[in-house]
Amino acid sequence: MKFTLKVAKPHKLAVDSLNLFLFEEDLAKSFSDFPPQIIVQIKEALNKENFKGATSDQLVISGSLDEAAFYKMSVSGLGKKAEFDLAALYESVGRSIRLSQGTKAVKIAFDLPLFWLDKFGPEKTVEAVVIAAMLSSYKFLKYKSQVEINKIRPIEEIIMVIPAQKLAQAEGGIRGGILIAGATLYARDLVNEPAQITTPPFLAEEAVKIAKNSKGAVTVKIWEEDEIKKNKMEAFLGVSRGSHQPPRFIVMRYKPARSRKKIALLGKGITFDTGGLSLKGSEHMETMKLDMAGAAAVLGVFSVIGEIKPPIEVVGLIAACENMPGGRALKPGDILKAANGKTIEVLNTDAEGRLTLADSLSFAVKSEKPDEMIDLATLTGACVVALGENIAGLFGNDVKLLAALEKASNSSGDRVWQLPLEKSYAELIKSQIADIKNTQTGKYGGAITAALFLNEFTADVPWAHLDIAGPAFAEKVTPLTAVGGTGFGVRLLLNYLKSV
Ligand code: BES
Ligand code: MN
Ligand code: ZN
Repeated sequence: MKFTLKVAKPHKLAVDSLNLFLFEEDLAKSFSDFPPQIIVQIKEALNKENFKGATSDQLVISGSLDEAAFYKMSVSGLGKKAEFDLAALYESVGRSIRLSQGTKAVKIAFDLPLFWLDKFGPEKTVEAVVIAAMLSSYKFLKYKSQVEINKIRPIEEIIMVIPAQKLAQAEGGIRGGILIAGATLYARDLVNEPAQITTPPFLAEEAVKIAKNSKGAVTVKIWEEDEIKKNKMEAFLGVSRGSHQPPRFIVMRYKPARSRKKIALLGKGITFDTGGLSLKGSEHMETMKLDMAGAAAVLGVFSVIGEIKPPIEVVGLIAACENMPGGRALKPGDILKAANGKTIEVLNTDAEGRLTLADSLSFAVKSEKPDEMIDLATLTGACVVALGENIAGLFGNDVKLLAALEKASNSSGDRVWQLPLEKSYAELIKSQIADIKNTQTGKYGGAITAALFLNEFTADVPWAHLDIAGPAFAEKVTPLTAVGGTGFGVRLLLNYLKSV
């Protein structure tokens, strides 16, 4: 997909679709740079279709308006100006792309509303349009045969119409948007790739490739089983034991010449979660290739970090393994000692993510001594019950870090909502015979008790936990996602790293 900025009269562009956006407040005014007779014709169509500018309002005006060079016009409502933020911009561009896809448009022009350019600035606006266009038109086609692929007509070019005096400021937005969206789509690809391919060694190889392509900005270290053993990561190894796939511990590092602080990013990397001996029902297992979405987000960030160049050291940690019910698998009642010395009674082998993260967090604290740690994990179904499919649960022990992540989330499109790290519930994960147990007493508040479990391994280092079980994987098509991996977390983390 090619992006270009153009100073032009929008109706003079010979495109398949000219995409227009209208706020409710602006319906009565003259839109953009169109000649009066075209405006009359557009207004006629809007009236006929009862278009009021609500975000759900869309219509296609086809063909021959006076003096128009475009083939069709796709109009999308933007709602009210007061309620419009960057997240709304992403969504509206996504909806507009979907509308044009319905008209089989290959070459599209967006008439960028002045309100966007003024409110967000030309660079941010263009960056957001590029990101939304790329995310919206993503499809995972690797396993479709050519006959099927030939039926699809992908969008080839997107022209953004912009006033001359804003052009220079806008140009950086294209490159920035392509980087951020590219990293997000890479994370999607990793999640969508079946677990027969994305094994722990495969994820490790991806990390190695990222380092190789980074022109020296990223270094990587891969531990195989004996080194994991030497480092006493018994909780991680316990989960891996029921599988024929060997585990890998992945350490990625980005270290600029001068760094203001050091942040550890930890991704849950269960390449497939059967539940182990506490086996999942087949319905719940169907999508469990998604259980490395946290790891995919971390890999996504590292795939572009050398180009984005944040002024901080970033360490990426992934304990990658499968959760399988093989002959050597963990048994309910088994007790494991995590790398920080705490003992864990494993009562449910399906609560495996917290076991692997326990050792990743312990390692980060002891060997990396970061200023901050952020983990991303498809950790609990309970979090999906609490917040639904579109919003990640945010937990942590540091008010400042949590506020900064909320802020980074707001402008990224990746939505989070803070849930409490309620200390009085820690009672519920005390074990009779070990230090803690991996499931709770009772059945309520499962996302919180999982976060409290992780907290046992943070040693009070500022830490935030994102439970992304809901938003990591889309069960249906939305303006910005296809069914499958969403790349959730990549945009949020990149935004955060840029803001530090
Ligand atoms: N990977 C799952 C969580 C999950 C569920 C992710 C749905 C995405 C969608 C996790 O390992 C798990 O199985 N969690 C259990 C924990 C329980 C056994 C304490 C759960 O949420 O049911
Ligand atoms: Mn599980
Ligand atoms: Zn899991």
